[in-house]
Amino acid sequence: MKTRISGKQINMSDLMFSISEAMDVAHHKLALHQLRTAYICWKMAEEAVLAPAQIEKLFLAAMLHDIGAFTALEKISHYEFEAEDCEPHCLRGELIYRQVPWLAASAKMVRLHHTPWCRCNESIDAPDVMEAQMLMLAEKLEREIDREGYILNQTSALREKMHNMAGKIIHTRVVELFLCISENEAFWLELTAPNLMNFLKYKGPVQHIYGDAAAALKMEEFFTAIIDFRSKYTASHTAGVSSCTNSLGILLGLPESERVELELAATLHDLGKIGVPNEILEKPGQLTRQEFAMIKMHSYLTFTLLDSV
Ligand SMILES: [Fe+2]
Ligand SMILES: [Fe+2]
Ligand SMILES: [Fe+2]
Repeated sequence: MKTRISGKQINMSDLMFSISEAMDVAHHKLALHQLRTAYICWKMAEEAVLAPAQIEKLFLAAMLHDIGAFTALEKISHYEFEAEDCEPHCLRGELIYRQVPWLAASAKMVRLHHTPWCRCNESIDAPDVMEAQMLMLAEKLEREIDREGYILNQTSALREKMHNMAGKIIHTRVVELFLCISENEAFWLELTAPNLMNFLKYKGPVQHIYGDAAAALKMEEFFTAIIDFRSKYTASHTAGVSSCTNSLGILLGLPESERVELELAATLHDLGKIGVPNEILEKPGQLTRQEFAMIKMHSYLTFTLLDSV
């Protein structure tokens, strides 16, 4: 497969946006958590006058920062910064980021996104440390927003909470950046706007990245990491389906171009599982009606993810 997908051009950045959105569909409390976090990081990075390449690195770190969290419980239980159980998803996230060429530079930020300042053993001026602190503040702030309430009624309390973290939990310089940008009502309104994804796609700091053959090869490893490694029951599932599909295509005498399409479909067919919590994917017993409804959603989610690239 690896040499035969060389003609494909995939809009990787749009795909990242779709994956980011899909990661948070598993629970209503999480809707757009990754993208909102990315927006907050972007605005703080602009305020800090970081170089465009560094802003893009931080934005990419934020938009998939919880990619290493596989269960819904894991995703919604990270309210305590110092919680020991935060560590595994930070480490998994770092490993997943390192597998993709255009995400690898953001891996350290992902690794440190729950590390409080008092436990950071590096200078704030060390590479990516201030950005990791920005990501930590952004992620914490995003979780504190009451999705049921009107945002402009929450801003004072939210600013106060972040202010109280200055020093021990978040570096003072980073808190000051946030206090500066959050004075502006437009910041809060943009952050909670329903069209945030399109806004970030067209006006955000990420340049469009199109995949060539080499990038597509890396994509395969990336998808394996985010789909199959979520569960021990599916560890080699995508590779197996892809291999069977190829053999069937040869047996049926399909032309090369159709076999390439089939293999790509096989490689990506379970991408929508990213929106299904592992508790359901791995449940040993019979699924409830509600759980089965979530399982059924994954094929449609796969379609919408791929339809946008
Ligand atoms: Fe998060
Ligand atoms: Fe996290
Ligand atoms: Fe499957």
